[in-house]
Amino acid sequence: MPRVAMLGIHHLEHCLLIETRSDPHPWGRVNWLRSLRDDHCLGYWQDNELLAISAYTLVLDEVSLLNIVVDTDSRGSGVGRHLLTEGLEWMQQFGGQRCLLEVRVSNTVARALYSKLGFAEDGIRKKYYPLGDGHEDAVLMSADLPLL
Ligand SMILES: CC(C)(COP(=O)(O)OP(=O)(O)OC[C@H]1O[C@@H](n2cnc3c(N)ncnc32)[C@H](O)[C@@H]1OP(=O)(O)O)[C@@H](O)C(=O)NCCC(=O)NCCS
Repeated sequence: MPRVAMLGIHHLEHCLLIETRSDPHPWGRVNWLRSLRDDHCLGYWQDNELLAISAYTLVLDEVSLLNIVVDTDSRGSGVGRHLLTEGLEWMQQFGGQRCLLEVRVSNTVARALYSKLGFAEDGIRKKYYPLGDGHEDAVLMSADLPLL
């Protein structure tokens, strides 16, 4: 049975493992440590195996999706959609009414996921992400909660 639940500091090493083998642009230890301590972090388990991780902040009624990573072998089977949908339902319980996010222009899979869930593209933040010896633009997206 799939299960979405809170992640704690004791999940740090597992988060880093999933991220370093799955994400070409890993967040790294310092960011995960801070987020697990200070933000809302939720994981997706299947049969007690942690397959995906996500992090959110809330300022007043505005949720920011900070990160979401599905382990490589578990992609393309609805895990990301499930985790994000439940994650945002979770954030609504704390007063979230709108979700904002940034995503790399080149990340067509994540952009497709967000669009499918009803996020609209609001604009571009130029040279937001480091990329090799240069920078990459971010697409700014938002959606009202609950998602449609
Ligand atoms: C982006 C990510 C979270 C998506 O998770 P996922 O579990 O593979 O996605 P899902 O199976 O839930 O798919 C949901 C939708 O995403 C899109 N999608 C998923 N895989 C795709 C692919 N290979 N190509 C194009 N679109 C794809 C589709 O729109 C899909 O909807 P559909 O199944 O109805 O067609 C995952 O690819 C990931 O962890 N990527 C690396 C980290 C990352 O980029 N995170 C986002 C940071 S902003």
